[in-house]
Amino acid sequence: RREYGDGFLVVPGMVDIHVHMREPGLEYKEDWRTGSMAAVKGGVTFVADMPNNKPPANNCNILREKLERAKRKSIVDYAFYAGFNIRPEELSKCKDLYIGGKIYPEDLYSPIVEEFARLIASQNKILVVHAEDPILLKPDAKILHSIARPPEAEKSAVKKTLELALQTGARTHITHISLADSIIEILKAKLAGHPVTLDTAPHYFLLNDSLYTTSRKNIAKVNPPLRSEKDRQTLYIAVNKMLVDAIVTDHAPHLLEEKLGEDPPSGFPGLEVALHLLLREILEGRMPIQVLDLYSFRPASLLGINKGCISIGCDADLVVLRKESWEIRPDEFVSKAKYSPFEGAVLRTKTHAVFLRGRTVYEEGEFYEDVRGKFYPLEAPTSYETLQDR
Ligand code: DOR
Ligand code: ZN
Ligand code: ZN
Repeated sequence: RREYGDGFLVVPGMVDIHVHMREPGLEYKEDWRTGSMAAVKGGVTFVADMPNNKPPANNCNILREKLERAKRKSIVDYAFYAGFNIRPEELSKCKDLYIGGKIYPEDLYSPIVEEFARLIASQNKILVVHAEDPILLKPDAKILHSIARPPEAEKSAVKKTLELALQTGARTHITHISLADSIIEILKAKLAGHPVTLDTAPHYFLLNDSLYTTSRKNIAKVNPPLRSEKDRQTLYIAVNKMLVDAIVTDHAPHLLEEKLGEDPPSGFPGLEVALHLLLREILEGRMPIQVLDLYSFRPASLLGINKGCISIGCDADLVVLRKESWEIRPDEFVSKAKYSPFEGAVLRTKTHAVFLRGRTVYEEGEFYEDVRGKFYPLEAPTSYETLQDR
C-alpha cells in the first residue's frame, strides 16, 4: 500500500507521438531499453516511433523487425510510423504494423507522394509530415543553422502539404511546427474544414535562435531550427491558448561526441524533460493545467488510440510527481544522448513513480524492467470508445 502526502501530484501517463528510438541500425545512439527508460523517467507511457532507421522502416520486413525488438525491450507502450515507399502497395501487406505514414522533406517532390498519401488515407491512418522544402535548404555547415534552414523552407512545405491534404483527403498532421506563420496557415485550413492538425515541441516555444551564436550551437542544432524570439513568443501563446493539437518532443538522440564534431547531426533528446518543462510553466502560473492534455489525451485521439480508454475511464497509466527543485544535468540522463539545450534549467517536479496499467514501472529512481509495453494498435484493448465515436 502506498501513501502520498502533500507535495505530490498525479497526472496521466504522457503520450509522445514523435520520437526516434533508433532501432534497427543506430542502436549506438539509442535503443528501446534506454529510450523507453528515458520515456518513463519523463512521465511518458506511450511513444510513436519514426521510420528514419537504418535501413528505413518503409517496408514490412523492417517494421516486423522493429516490432520484435520493441516487444523484447520496451517498458512503455508503442506504435510505429511507416516511411515513404516508392511502391506504396508493398505497405498494404502489413497495415497492422503501423499507425500512420511519415513524409520527410526529400519525399515531398516525389511523383508517388500522392499515391502514398492516398494509401494512408484509404487505411484510415494519419499522414505525418516534416514540413521543410528541400529546394530551399542550404546544406552549408559553416553558416548559422537557422540561416541554412530558413523560414521560407517551412512555409513553402506547409503550403505544399496543405495542397496534398486537400487533393488526397488524407488526414494530415504537420509535425514540429516552428513558425508563427505556419500556425496561421494551418489554422486557416482547419477553419476551411480541411482534415489537418499540427504539433510543436517545447524547444520551439521555450528557446530561440540566439543559441546559434553561443557555445551551445551544436547541441541546439535541430531540424527545423530554433527560430526568432518573436516566433517563440507566438508559439508560446498558441500552446497557452490550446491552438495546437499536440506537443511532441521529437526525441532525436545522437551521441555527445557526434554533436561536438565538425558537422554535427541535428536533434537532441527530449523525453526526460518535456513534461517537467511544461509543469514548471504550469506551477509558476504562466500556463493553464489544460496544456497537459496536449501531451496526453489529444495526441492519443489524433492517432485514434485513446489509449486504453473504454466507456468508464482509462487504463491506470499514471505518473506520480514529487515537488522538488532540480537542475537539468544531461550527464545524468538514462538516454544514451547525454546533452540538452535545456542544460542548467531549474525544474520544480521530479518523476516519483510511474504505473503502466496499474503495474509499477518506476519508483524512486528504480526501473521495474519486468514490465513490457503493449504494441498499438494490435495489442490494444479492443473496446475503444473515442470521443469522436460518442
Ligand atoms: O533534428 C532532427 N533530427 N530532425 C529530423 O527530422 C530528424 C531527427 C533525427 O532523426 O535525428
Ligand atoms: Zn522531423
Ligand atoms: Zn523527428
